[in-house]
Amino acid sequence: MSLNMKPMRIALTKGRLEKDTISLFDRMGLDTAALQDKGRRLILPVGLPDGGRFEVVLAKAADVITYVEHGVCDLGVVGKDTIAEYGGSFYEVLDLGFGRCRFALAAPKNSDFFKGYNTKTVASKYPNVANSYFGSKGMDVRIIKIEGSVELAPLLGLADAIVDIVETGSTLRENGLEVLEEVMPISARLIVNIACMKLRKKEIEAFVSRMEENL
Ligand code: PRP
Repeated sequence: MSLNMKPMRIALTKGRLEKDTISLFDRMGLDTAALQDKGRRLILPVGLPDGGRFEVVLAKAADVITYVEHGVCDLGVVGKDTIAEYGGSFYEVLDLGFGRCRFALAAPKNSDFFKGYNTKTVASKYPNVANSYFGSKGMDVRIIKIEGSVELAPLLGLADAIVDIVETGSTLRENGLEVLEEVMPISARLIVNIACMKLRKKEIEAFVSRMEENL
């Protein structure tokens, strides 16, 4: 890192991807003590093996994209699900291989979702993903945005089906739902701010290859 530059800042998605990201940092030889014992702090210092440091920001998935897009964070770790839903201008440079799950279309067992001519209703926390999926099939559906526990929507009679994340499949199974079609595989990705990729090329490339070697 050059002396006149501020430390690089990386935005991490808190929650599901947090533990795997910290393990990856440990394998990369970074000092993650502040991340292990963060209390309520939101900007945390992480030590580099060469004595330098960078800053980690813990944020909600969609905010990781916002921070990287606006350049207040140079890098970000975020799920492909969030990237697919929100899009944005940044480089997606690495598939980190963890946080693996998938988007799927699911419905109550033995339902006839693809039969008949009436417009079906689909609930999803990811309306853009659902829209482009049905768009690609040439199917006209009504999409209702739900913020969480999307599986409830067909159980309550609000929707015929859902487009949601499936990891182990337990939530579907325990609620009498089944996958009708896979929509898209998901895993965690490393994203980079566009200007930063040019301005801090060497630093970014060194960080990315160190990450790649430890996946
Ligand atoms: C996700 C997803 C499913 C569940 C799938 O929800 O929306 O509900 O996990 O996991 P499974 O296949 O292993 O059962 P999450 O726990 O993130 O909470 P949310 O429903 O509030 O979004």
